Amino acid sequence: MLSNIQSFAALAVAIAYSALASTYKSGTTVNVDGTYFYIPASPISSLGLGQDQLSSACSPGDDYIPLTVMTGDFNTFDATTLQSTVTSYLGGDDVFNTGFLQATTSCTSELPAGPYFLHAYTGDVFQAYRLYSDYEGAFTEGTIANADGNFSTMSASIPGVQSPTIGVPSRLYYAKSDAQPLAGVRLGVKDIYDVAGTRRGCGNRAYYDLYPERPTTAPAVQRLLDAGAVLVGKMKTSQFANGEMATADWVDYHSPFNARGDGYNDPSSSSSGPGAGIGAYDWLDLGLGSDTGGSIRNPAQVNGAFGNRPSHGLVTLDNVMPLSPLMDTAGFITRDASLWKTTGHVLYSNNLFTFTSFPKKLYTSTFPTNITSEADAVILDFLSKLETFLGVNASVLDYDSMWASSPEAASTNASTLSDLLTLTYPTLIGKQQYTLFGAPFIADYQAAHDGRQPFLDPNPLVRWTWAQTNATTLEEGINNKTIFMDWWNSEVIKSDPETCSDSLLLYPGTLATPNPRNVYLSPPVIPAGWSIQNVAIMAGVPDMVLPVGQAPYNSTISLHEEYLPVAVDIIAAPGCDAVIFELAEQLQNAGIINAPKAGSTMYRREVSARLE
Ligand SMILES: *[C@@H]1O[C@H](CO)[C@@H](O)[C@H](O)[C@H]1NC(C)=O
Ligand SMILES: *[C@@H]1O[C@H](CO)[C@@H](O)[C@H](O)[C@H]1NC(C)=O
Ligand SMILES: *[C@@H]1O[C@H](CO)[C@@H](O)[C@H](O)[C@H]1NC(C)=O
Ligand SMILES: *[C@@H]1O[C@H](CO)[C@@H](O)[C@H](O)[C@H]1NC(C)=O
Ligand SMILES: *[C@@H]1O[C@H](CO)[C@@H](O)[C@H](O)[C@H]1NC(C)=O
Ligand SMILES: *[C@@H]1O[C@H](CO)[C@@H](O)[C@H](O)[C@H]1NC(C)=O
Ligand SMILES: *[C@@H]1O[C@H](CO)[C@@H](O)[C@H](O)[C@H]1NC(C)=O
Repeated sequence: MLSNIQSFAALAVAIAYSALASTYKSGTTVNVDGTYFYIPASPISSLGLGQDQLSSACSPGDDYIPLTVMTGDFNTFDATTLQSTVTSYLGGDDVFNTGFLQATTSCTSELPAGPYFLHAYTGDVFQAYRLYSDYEGAFTEGTIANADGNFSTMSASIPGVQSPTIGVPSRLYYAKSDAQPLAGVRLGVKDIYDVAGTRRGCGNRAYYDLYPERPTTAPAVQRLLDAGAVLVGKMKTSQFANGEMATADWVDYHSPFNARGDGYNDPSSSSSGPGAGIGAYDWLDLGLGSDTGGSIRNPAQVNGAFGNRPSHGLVTLDNVMPLSPLMDTAGFITRDASLWKTTGHVLYSNNLFTFTSFPKKLYTSTFPTNITSEADAVILDFLSKLETFLGVNASVLDYDSMWASSPEAASTNASTLSDLLTLTYPTLIGKQQYTLFGAPFIADYQAAHDGRQPFLDPNPLVRWTWAQTNATTLEEGINNKTIFMDWWNSEVIKSDPETCSDSLLLYPGTLATPNPRNVYLSPPVIPAGWSIQNVAIMAGVPDMVLPVGQAPYNSTISLHEEYLPVAVDIIAAPGCDAVIFELAEQLQNAGIINAPKAGSTMYRREVSARLE
């Protein structure tokens, strides 16, 4: 008897506790005509209909009815209008399919046209998100915006060789405007930027696990959202945005796959997720990343896309993981030169200098001097068309000789730029990232784990260890960088009142060189060295990647001829990013370059310069 009373009391307590539990609705996954969709927890609107009116449209047990909203004059809407509307929806949107024609309405006042889900019993209307499997492993997680402005991790999961699942809303909901120039642009963000309501991982499992959800969204991301961009997920970074090579360096996470060619080349780093995702997925439009030492440029080059390292300091990097604040920049990757330009003006707003005409001097560095491969032919063909377009002849810029005879070379005792700058990059990133980020992270982790050390991938470990033990000082690195920056910007590529930059400097970004990911590598070393890629890093100037073609190689993996990207980098004076954005768009409009497609090949064969 007594024990019965005790159990009864325990049950009552259990019921009391369960009444207090918070439940959270995270949406629903449905399948329409073979395609998976996500229905968010909160409706966007309501038709205000009851069960009776809807009974004809739904079979017993159906909760959600696919619905299409069409706009137009209801009185003149006939079968022909319906047919042409459906055709245009199918052509312009990957979310709409004819399964949504189960119910159609044109009577809602506020809803944009497009596919929706109607709840059969409440009349609530929900937006439709198409679900894609991230089969190239470019994302860390999908995200979905909540009504309060925070984001949640996408809860849906569909079959696929790699998780996670990413949801994208119908393109039909959005119309671009002056206030919303990025309306509906699907955005993925490198997982070093804060997104309110989600965790930030920075490419390290221990780091992701240690810290809670972020309270605010980084201002750089918020600018894109305010202009209408739709955040669909966080994207992979190599660990702490340090360079890592597929596959050996990527211990904590697997490197994303590069879709170009045989699909088994290194996607480069550190903005590997944005690069790989833009190269692979036509359902993704924009990848926000960062470039400290090449982290936008290298992934853009090898994944066949536009990508920019901006002038230093154009947009705040508050709420973003630091590598070296002296060199960190926010850049982005996309397949379309017009979107590239529009996004540049949104992200850097009034920090871009204006110009009235294109520069009248064109320089090259490290270009091939003759044609020994198809990639050489592609890049020289581009150069010749660019010369015609700008009405100038390019000449080779020998900045090494200019340095050797400069007063700065004498006063620093550095007869070559390599003498001056070989150790500058590893010094600045190693010392700054360890002090600002590494040491506090390790201390927080140790405090939470009884003094244990968190796991670090070999690459950041080598860099942080070197920075702590080498006698080179941060001040020496800053001094060398400043000497170079002042010299380059006053003697090599100068500002100009009319053209912003007195000249443009081109160098080959990639010449379709395969870099297969199934090769065993030697252990990492510090990133010492000097090459033209470091110019923008040290001088704080824009260095922007234009995909200009593709060229064949014989794959050791598919045992078949495949195509990889050919890209050109363009450098200008500080603040002159808008010149290159504008040039790229005009070259695309003129057909001199073509917006690449996503997938194995960037262009249909006949588009490439030398393929027939
Ligand atoms: C957004 O999420 C963060 C982190 O969980 C939280 O601190 C904040 O209160 C949330 N904001 C809203 C409006 O819910
Ligand atoms: C062709 O270019 C290669 C590499 O740039 C160079 O080594 C070679 O001498 C050049 N040949 C001629 C004939 O110019
Ligand atoms: C470019 O070089 C060609 C051949 O030397 C010459 O005919 C042409 O006038 C030059 N164009 C300019 C703008 O200097
Ligand atoms: C350059 O070398 C001279 C002669 O060895 C020396 O006196 C001077 O201090 C050096 N300057 C720098 C900046 O290292
Ligand atoms: C700075 O430049 C000097 C040459 O002037 C070089 O010996 C030294 O290694 C450089 N240090 C760094 C950190 O760049
Ligand atoms: C600092 O590191 C550089 C590059 O590894 C090395 O050449 C140099 O000897 C080191 N100097 C000291 C004092 O550790
Ligand atoms: C691929 O190999 C074939 C057969 O050896 C050869 O004819 C062809 O030129 C090669 N293609 C490339 C791009 O190297």
